[in-house]
Amino acid sequence: MESSKVLALYCLGIICLQITVDGSKILLFPNDVGYNSRVMNMLKLGRMLTNAKHQVTCVISDKMREEAMFKLAEGENADLSFNVVSYKTPPVEMRTDNEDLSDLMLNLDMPQLYVIVGAMFFNTLENTLKDKTIVKLAKEDFDLIITDELVFFPRIISANRSIPIILYSNFGTLTFDSDIIPRYSLAFVNGCFNRFSDVMSFFQRLENVWEYLRVKLVLSDAYSAAKVLCRSYGYGKSCDNIREIHKTVNLVLMNRNDVIHYPAPYMPHIVSTEGFFLEKPKPLDAYYKDILKGSETHGIIVVSFGSLFRRLGRKYRTIFAKAFSRMPQTVIWSYEGETPEGLGENTIVNKWIPQTDLLSSPAVKLFVTQCGASSLFEALNNGLPVVGVPFIGDQEYNCLKLAKRVKSAKIVKLNTITSEQLQNAMEEVINNETYRTNARKAATMYHDQLIDPRNKTLYWIEYVIRHKGAQHLRSAGENQLNFFQYYLLDIAGSVVIVIIIALTSVTVIVKALLKCLVNATKLKKA
Ligand SMILES: *[C@@H]1O[C@H](CO)[C@@H](O)[C@H](O)[C@H]1NC(C)=O
Ligand SMILES: *[C@@H]1O[C@H](CO)[C@@H](O)[C@H](O)[C@H]1NC(C)=O
Ligand SMILES: *[C@@H]1O[C@H](CO)[C@@H](O)[C@H](O)[C@H]1NC(C)=O
Repeated sequence: MESSKVLALYCLGIICLQITVDGSKILLFPNDVGYNSRVMNMLKLGRMLTNAKHQVTCVISDKMREEAMFKLAEGENADLSFNVVSYKTPPVEMRTDNEDLSDLMLNLDMPQLYVIVGAMFFNTLENTLKDKTIVKLAKEDFDLIITDELVFFPRIISANRSIPIILYSNFGTLTFDSDIIPRYSLAFVNGCFNRFSDVMSFFQRLENVWEYLRVKLVLSDAYSAAKVLCRSYGYGKSCDNIREIHKTVNLVLMNRNDVIHYPAPYMPHIVSTEGFFLEKPKPLDAYYKDILKGSETHGIIVVSFGSLFRRLGRKYRTIFAKAFSRMPQTVIWSYEGETPEGLGENTIVNKWIPQTDLLSSPAVKLFVTQCGASSLFEALNNGLPVVGVPFIGDQEYNCLKLAKRVKSAKIVKLNTITSEQLQNAMEEVINNETYRTNARKAATMYHDQLIDPRNKTLYWIEYVIRHKGAQHLRSAGENQLNFFQYYLLDIAGSVVIVIIIALTSVTVIVKALLKCLVNATKLKKA
């Protein structure tokens, strides 16, 4: 009798647990600066949660909702999967060509880029703060907020309504705010974007620290401005959470995997998502099947520079097209805009290509990519040799991971690129088996995981829902320390003071003793 009661209670417990997890209300807040991998990956996260029977409300700008690529890739799908709520953005001039953009971006180093990006955070915050629909939405009872690490409004809502919050970092270890994913030791962890591995010389470590401090300074300005704006909308103390998010966040989902990224220490609330966004390849349609059939002798090269650089200026599109035309392989290039000069018969350009499905084909000899956060994982997952042409931001850093750590890639620098250089790089990577062997070896290690990346990510999100937060994963000790305590400068200072006192005392005593001795000898002589 007793035991069956216990059993019944136990079952009830399980049911209750399931009820609290099933159908939780989740607010999903991607970083909306155009439709790119940051947004795509967050929407995939959202779709995963919808499939797990949660109610997901997704916030995006009206501009993105109207974007052609968004409609093409997400379309009605988004509306079917989520409750999509959009906020108004002021009209801006349309860019027709990315030539200016790529030239501008090429000449910026990361801290400079952050100044521009910091302004974008501010604009997004302003647009959301003054949007009545979003403000009303913020008053609803959500069980959880999941947001991109760069969006500020959800940080305010989380504090104001005491809703647990999870951050997603698409840049992985390279989050803008190093407090969100602490570096712990700049002696071997990259403070920011730079070209170093985890073995650094003195001057590299110096540069590492210098860049780290510059980024901190830029962010500090961005946070101060955001806080002032937030206060002017009457959110009071909740505004502090814009800067304090690293202390209150429950979980950070970090786009990272051990095979590509350098090992570094992380706290338990920082979860590597191991490329959860990778999708299972689908069979190719007849059009692409025909292309593959026609390329049986030499195979194919897949080229994609990500959603931001689908359009290119005349200079670059010509250089690329000419290099591709000299290859024996069939080239499939995700490209939009004017037909490039010198486009070869072997090159197929298409605004949208089934990239995931193509890359899984054994006919692929080479992947030419900008090394975006997602294509990095696609190359790894499919064991593909790569020629990396980084454009901006984290891309050079990602390319370097493939070139230096996995050793499956060659990098061609965009600001000095020529057709010959690109052609040589492509030929070497295709003809020298080392690149493919290394890529395959990395892929085998990557696939050897305890849990499927999607299941792992979902588990951790639901973990936070089940326990209504995960503050027990956070170190209160770490969060309370000030600068001097954190770097043990107070201890080092105390040690120095003790040593100084001891040395001074010894000197005084020795001096006094010597004086006594001298006096004694003098006295004796006298
Ligand atoms: C939450 O925000 C409202 C304004 O929307 C403000 O009046 C209130 O003081 C805030 N609460 C907290 C706890 O910060
Ligand atoms: C192939 O590439 C590897 C790594 O770059 C290099 O060490 C090796 O000499 C190359 N082999 C040939 C035959 O060029
Ligand atoms: C992942 O989760 C799904 C749904 O719960 C399950 O069917 C599948 O077997 C899991 N896969 C792995 C590899 O654990």
